[in-house]
Amino acid sequence: MIQLSYRSLKTEVRESKIHGRGLFAKADIAQGEIVVVKGGHIVDRETLGREITPHLGPVEIQIDDNLFITPVNAAERELSMLYSNHSCDPNLGLRGEITFVAMREIRAGEELTHDWAMTDDDDYSAECNCGANSCRKVLTGKDWQKPELQRKYAGYFSAYLARKISKQS
Ligand SMILES: C[S@@+](CC[C@H](N)C(=O)[O-])C[C@H]1O[C@@H](n2cnc3c(N)ncnc32)[C@H](O)[C@@H]1O
Ligand SMILES: [Zn+2]
Repeated sequence: MIQLSYRSLKTEVRESKIHGRGLFAKADIAQGEIVVVKGGHIVDRETLGREITPHLGPVEIQIDDNLFITPVNAAERELSMLYSNHSCDPNLGLRGEITFVAMREIRAGEELTHDWAMTDDDDYSAECNCGANSCRKVLTGKDWQKPELQRKYAGYFSAYLARKISKQS
């Protein structure tokens, strides 16, 4: 079966202390290396909420104000899932809107995570279980607006958020 998303051969999916299954490095990964690329269909927020999330759960990545890339049925779910959990101390960042690269050298065995602040502009609030010393405890869909995160993730925000941030300043 041809995958919808790309996952580097240096990754594997297994149980995570953060949540459910997570994505892990099974070999060292160099800074800047492509780790995963999200694939799927492009849908708007209304379609996502009506047709996708109730059946498949959280499977999408936001790629613009009103656009998401997502599997659209159960058969596609596994072919599209990245399994990258959220961390407040992540090792992956965005190049463009769907490509996740290593923000630093990553060692075999590390869980591969991104920060939802890098991709999301939304209205949710959620408890975080990432376990990082710097954990924010409560995540919101507006975390991209936090100046300290804008500094921390400069160069690694989804392109549509990077454009908003540069318009602000
Ligand atoms: C796309 S899934 C990631 C894969 C997921 N662990 C699984 O086994 O399907 C995203 C979901 O994982 C959970 N999750 C990921 N990171 C989390 C975190 N830091 N704290 C709490 N829940 C998290 C949330 O339920 C979120 O909606
Ligand atoms: Zn956290």
